Amino acid sequence: MPTRTDRGEADLASLPLREDLRGRTPYGAPQSGRAGVGAAVQLNVNENPYPPSPELVADLAAAVAVAAGSLNRYPDREALGLRSDLATYLSARTGVPLDVPQLWAANGSNEVLQQVCQAFGGPGRVALGFEPSYSMHPLLAAGTNTGWVSERRAVDFTVSAAAAVDAVERHRPAVTFLTTPNNPTGTVTGLDVVDAVCAATAGVVVVDEAYAEFAAAPSAITLLERHPRLLVSRTMSKAFALAGARVGYLAASADVVDVLRLVRLPYHLSAVTQVVARTALAHTAELLGTVEQVKAQRNRIATELRTLGLTVVPTESNFALFGPWPDPAATWQALLDRGVLVRDLSSTPGLAGWLRVNAGTETETTRLIDAVTDVVRAGAFVG
Ligand SMILES: Cc1ncc(COP(=O)(O)O)c(C=O)c1O
Repeated sequence: MPTRTDRGEADLASLPLREDLRGRTPYGAPQSGRAGVGAAVQLNVNENPYPPSPELVADLAAAVAVAAGSLNRYPDREALGLRSDLATYLSARTGVPLDVPQLWAANGSNEVLQQVCQAFGGPGRVALGFEPSYSMHPLLAAGTNTGWVSERRAVDFTVSAAAAVDAVERHRPAVTFLTTPNNPTGTVTGLDVVDAVCAATAGVVVVDEAYAEFAAAPSAITLLERHPRLLVSRTMSKAFALAGARVGYLAASADVVDVLRLVRLPYHLSAVTQVVARTALAHTAELLGTVEQVKAQRNRIATELRTLGLTVVPTESNFALFGPWPDPAATWQALLDRGVLVRDLSSTPGLAGWLRVNAGTETETTRLIDAVTDVVRAGAFVG
């Protein structure tokens, strides 16, 4: 149901809202079937298109049934079992030995990042981002009363070490966000940039690796030992295909994790969430098996749309930015009319003309490619 803030109405004046939140719009990609947008093929919020297998569903149901028997009790406040499983997963994946005190988990990486802003941002401090990037970073800064400063990425949507260090020296941020692969561009940021920013700042550096499993690039986790103020956030929403469970996590120094405990709500991760995440982690091989399929469809999207004469930004994620469209809103609607929901990012500064789409199953991706082909042939794109 659309709300007043969704509609951007100004009739909230009578509420004693914080002045710095007045006039802001909440995060909100259209949800198919839920906000008046109906589409057979939903490729607009970078989800993994593969639902849990029947075996995993059965294991999840059994694990939740066991947890249900003690829901009268609060969950493990420190989520030690889950953090141990996450440490094992990340160590195996990156080759970096990690212990439980270096891992933190919360309800989606959004909550992890909010806790980071609560602990290290706040009034009188600023967070820095390199935009266009993930739109929640400035919203999380705003929600925690942290100032937001941003620098524009280069025309190819990359960030160089020199530009990043220059920005850090000018803004002196308490929190610097580096997103790699970056949403919504799909571009990666090299470890040389992370290294240089860590060396240049007195604040914390958050490398948001929500899409890391889809990339060939090495993880910033390999730099943790060198940089005590480096934080690497990850999520189970993408490669693990677990967006509905809301599980995000972070690897950092034990001191950073300790500090986050000051701002987390008591028992923030429900017993059900913990058990669901641990069950999914026990199926890591199966779940990450979808990553190769998703990458294949992502590569197919890039190849096919380029053949149509479109530009597709080089991507190491599960989505691609494509365009530029002379009338992106009309193209978005034309694709929706053909049953495919993509993301219109054209009102974002630096993204005029661009649409973003995530890889679907092979069938969904075929529907997308057919729809875009149709729209291009109808003359919507002038290359
Ligand atoms: C770059 C980036 N970071 C973090 C997130 C948040 O993911 P979640 O809260 O589902 O873990 C997203 C979601 O799309 C994202 O694109």
